[in-house]
Amino acid sequence: MSSLIIAVANQKGGVGKTTLAVNLAAGLARRQTCVVLDADPQGSASSWVRLATKPSNPVVPVIEVLAGVHDAVAAVREEYAYLVIDCPPSVDSMQVKQALACADCLLIPVLPSPMDLWASTGIEGMVKAASSHNPGLRAFLVLNQIESRNAMARGMEEVFREFTVRALRNGLVRRAVYRTAALEGCSVYDLGRRGEAAAKEMESVITEILAA
Ligand SMILES: Nc1ncnc2c1ncn2[C@@H]1O[C@H](COP(=O)(O)OP(=O)(O)OP(=O)(O)O)[C@@H](O)[C@H]1O
Ligand SMILES: [Mg+2]
Repeated sequence: MSSLIIAVANQKGGVGKTTLAVNLAAGLARRQTCVVLDADPQGSASSWVRLATKPSNPVVPVIEVLAGVHDAVAAVREEYAYLVIDCPPSVDSMQVKQALACADCLLIPVLPSPMDLWASTGIEGMVKAASSHNPGLRAFLVLNQIESRNAMARGMEEVFREFTVRALRNGLVRRAVYRTAALEGCSVYDLGRRGEAAAKEMESVITEILAA
């Protein structure tokens, strides 16, 4: 099976890497087989799915990467159509380097405030370095925790000013339901009406990635 490998990375902490990785994987799993490779030693994605009320029926399989990402990818890529790698908040850890070296697509969540964007200047270097080894890598910023349509537009302007890396047209709004999903060990797709708007924006992100 030829699988699509999507790495979710940003050297900055708390920007929504794990939130995006798990919900994205849940959306992809509705299409074809999908697994999350948890490459973060903090193990957030692994802890998330352990909170599921029915552990026998996890939102999406999550495999902790104990050795290298390369080995973890090689072990599962025949089995799954989509591999989503949740990276630790770092640029030069071995896990991030390996994830970026083997990914088809790199998603970089960023918070659309000037201060957060300035703190993300390492992103350009990270993408450049990764692309020199992996020329086919498609990298996109994903605006997260957007407050409103206006904030989305302003965030986009900032992103265009500060970065050469492209941003997806679709981003994620700040919604309490993303925290709820993490607390309940599920994805926004599993929360019915409460998760509807979030699942819809996740679908737009997925459609855009798969078309890119
Ligand atoms: N769109 C959103 N709306 C509301 N809360 C969000 C959203 N995205 C992320 N969060 C919350 O922000 C916090 C940080 O998110 P998350 O853990 O996904 O970031 P991270 O980049 O993986 O962090 P780390 O660098 O520590 O791995 C979490 O409490 C999460 O629930
Ligand atoms: Mg995380």
